[in-house]
Amino acid sequence: MSESSTREQPSGLAAVEVKNLRCRRGERELFHIHHWALPASGHGLLQGPSGCGKTTLLHLIAGLDVSAEGQLTVLGEGLLTKGSRQRDRFRARRIGLVFQDFHLLEGLTVEDNLRLAGWLGTRGDRRRPALELLDRLGLSGLARAWPHTLSQGEKQRVAIARALINHPDLILADEPTSALDDDNAEAVIRLLMEEADHHGASLLVSTHDARIADHFPHQLRLGGDR
Ligand SMILES: Nc1ncnc2c1ncn2[C@@H]1O[C@H](COP(=O)(O)OP(=O)(O)OP(=O)(O)O)[C@@H](O)[C@H]1O
Ligand SMILES: [Mg+2]
Repeated sequence: MSESSTREQPSGLAAVEVKNLRCRRGERELFHIHHWALPASGHGLLQGPSGCGKTTLLHLIAGLDVSAEGQLTVLGEGLLTKGSRQRDRFRARRIGLVFQDFHLLEGLTVEDNLRLAGWLGTRGDRRRPALELLDRLGLSGLARAWPHTLSQGEKQRVAIARALINHPDLILADEPTSALDDDNAEAVIRLLMEEADHHGASLLVSTHDARIADHFPHQLRLGGDR
C-alpha cells in the first residue's frame, strides 16, 4: 500500500489531471492518487523512493501503459480509454518522453536518433533541426557518434534532445539527472525548464534526487508510507 500527497490544488486547465488513480502490480497496490494536477505550462516534480511507481506513472501519462483504474487526463485527453494506435499517435505528436534508461537506438548515430524521432512526430511544421538542437545541448561534436560510445551523462542529454525535437506540449523526464554531477544536473534542469517555458510546454520530472526538488512548485510524492 502506498499513499500520495499533494501540495497543489488543480487549476481550471491542467496539463495532467489524475483523479482516484489506482495502480496494482499483482496483489500489491503500487499507488492510489486521490487527486493531483499539473497546471498547463507548469513545472512538476514526481518524487518517491525506488520502486514506488514513478516510471509506471510517467508511462501511464505518456500512454505507454493503461494498466490502472480511475481517471487520467493528459492535455485534455482521457488516455486510459483510448486504443493503442490513438495513444501512439497522441504521444508522437504531443509528448516528449525522456526514458530512465534512454532507449537510444544503437544502430543509428546520435543525429539519426533525433531525425527518426522528428520524422515519427508527423508534425513537420514543429520539427526542429537536429543539429541545432544538439548544439544547444552542447552535443554537436557527437552528432555522428554511435550511442554505445557515449558516457551515461551524454546519453542522457541525447535522450533529452530527442524528446524535444518536435516541440512537445508536455515534456516527461524520468530521472533526467541520475547520471549527472551537481553542475550538469543543475544545467539539465535549467535547460528542461527553459525549453518548456520557451515553447509554452508543461514539464513533469521524476526523481529521487533531493538536489533538484526546490526548483519545482508542483510536487507529487508516491510511496509516502515507506
Ligand atoms: N510490467 C511489470 N509487471 C509487474 N511489476 C512491475 C512491472 N513493471 C514494474 N513493476 C514493479 O512495479 C514497481 C514500480 O516500478 P517503477 O519502475 O515504476 O518504480 P520507480 O519508482 O520508477 O523506481 P526507480 O526509482 O528505481 O526508477 C516495482 O516494484 C516494479 O518491480
Ligand atoms: Mg523509475
